[in-house]
Amino acid sequence: MNGEAVPVVAIDGPSGSGKGTVALRVARALGWHYLDSGALYRVLALYAVRREVPLDDESQLAELAGSLPLRFDQGKAMLVGADVENEIRSEQAGDRASRVAPLPAVRRALLSWQRNCAMPPGLVADGRDMGTVVFPDADCKIFLTASVEQRAQRRFNQLRQKGFDVNIHRLFEEISERDRRDAGRRVSPLRPAEDAMLLDTTELTIDQAVEVVLGLADRSRGKARG
Ligand code: DC
Repeated sequence: MNGEAVPVVAIDGPSGSGKGTVALRVARALGWHYLDSGALYRVLALYAVRREVPLDDESQLAELAGSLPLRFDQGKAMLVGADVENEIRSEQAGDRASRVAPLPAVRRALLSWQRNCAMPPGLVADGRDMGTVVFPDADCKIFLTASVEQRAQRRFNQLRQKGFDVNIHRLFEEISERDRRDAGRRVSPLRPAEDAMLLDTTELTIDQAVEVVLGLADRSRGKARG
């Protein structure tokens, strides 16, 4: 599924579970590529708004997704060559992303973009369906979770740091609502792959979570090598 048996660490989980930060740090520690698949849905929604495509127009959205002029430059999302990193990280952008994400044709159109990221020496990919749909043959699948309270607090700190004006209670409600939408959708719902290892990060620091994931990735690679 991922071409030339490039090793893949697939990290899935709900928003605020720490998967983005953990996945990026794990990728750096291993010297591997990193895919933030959530950014694709965020950028697609932004692109659609700019092109005045309604966020429920599946066929037009799939068409945009099939030729999304997106690349990452030193971790920053560049849409048609311009840095959109700040724009796609707002709560509104996340909400729009979760509206385009349930559309089957959109998800299909983004598959090859994501699979093409599996390049030597390896890929750490984070999202909702990395282990179940995009990289079902990944050597190492991890599902990160954390309590909704903890996730709202982390998101609050993150957004405040970026200068956004946020309210913790609203974040709690928004995260719960997005969880329901992500887990309840028909196509690629948020759920652990059968062979995923579950890791609850509620009581863990980022450093501890990175350590555990690196250990699991190492163990899986050992197994893959036989
Ligand atoms: O991880 P994130 O918050 O950046 O994701 C934004 C939205 O995109 C989220 O509501 C779920 C969706 N998403 C998805 O459906 N599949 C992925 N692989 C990644 C994100």
